[in-house]
Amino acid sequence: MSDQRPFEIRPGTGDDLFMIAGVLVDTWRSTFRGLLADDFLDGMSREDQAVRHARRMGAPGVHYLVAVEPSGGGIVGFANFGPGRGTVPADLHEIYALYVRAGYQGAGIGTALVSTAAGHCAEQGAKSLFAWVLSGNPNRKFYERLGAKAVETSSIWLDDRHYEQVAYLWEDITTLVNR
Ligand SMILES: CC(C)(COP(=O)(O)OP(=O)(O)OC[C@H]1O[C@@H](n2cnc3c(N)ncnc32)[C@H](O)[C@@H]1OP(=O)(O)O)[C@@H](O)C(=O)NCCC(=O)NCCS
Repeated sequence: MSDQRPFEIRPGTGDDLFMIAGVLVDTWRSTFRGLLADDFLDGMSREDQAVRHARRMGAPGVHYLVAVEPSGGGIVGFANFGPGRGTVPADLHEIYALYVRAGYQGAGIGTALVSTAAGHCAEQGAKSLFAWVLSGNPNRKFYERLGAKAVETSSIWLDDRHYEQVAYLWEDITTLVNR
């Protein structure tokens, strides 16, 4: 990562879970308002998400990265990633979640998280990387800007409804490393 970026990317730990959960809940509310039901978004809780992510952090092969604001030390973004879920080849890894707080978007943090995650996955033997993104997500262009191709759609059950999601694939993970 460049020294000019006003944030630090480091591995996420159990001590970070409550802040990670805060980023997730706030970012879902700011991004998916209008796409998901208000009741669902308003009912999300930091406590539930912290528990969910504690489980996820403990799962085999799953890693977390956090983006930290150097001035206050607060976490402003995170990503988690690891082996691809479903029936996929062992060298196909997945970004499970990627969120940057609203006031910090557009400053290269998402790129730095994906690039650092890709480097880590490549070290673990991954050749390709993918991420599932809600088809209605207004930020799909981010993945396209980073060179990912939409390769597949599927359905996800959220908020008592099915939503379409799209898989974005980086066939050659090396294109992302050191981006
Ligand atoms: C999507 C997200 C992770 C991107 O992170 P970010 O730090 O804002 O993105 P970056 O600053 O690294 O942007 C990288 C490039 O993508 C482009 N980009 C990012 N979001 C974009 C958007 N919504 N529309 C068009 N281009 C976009 C940037 O302009 C930049 O292009 P450039 O290289 O030409 O300057 C972040 O905005 C976010 O968390 N959004 C809300 C939650 C979300 O949608 N998460 C993804 C869930 S799957």
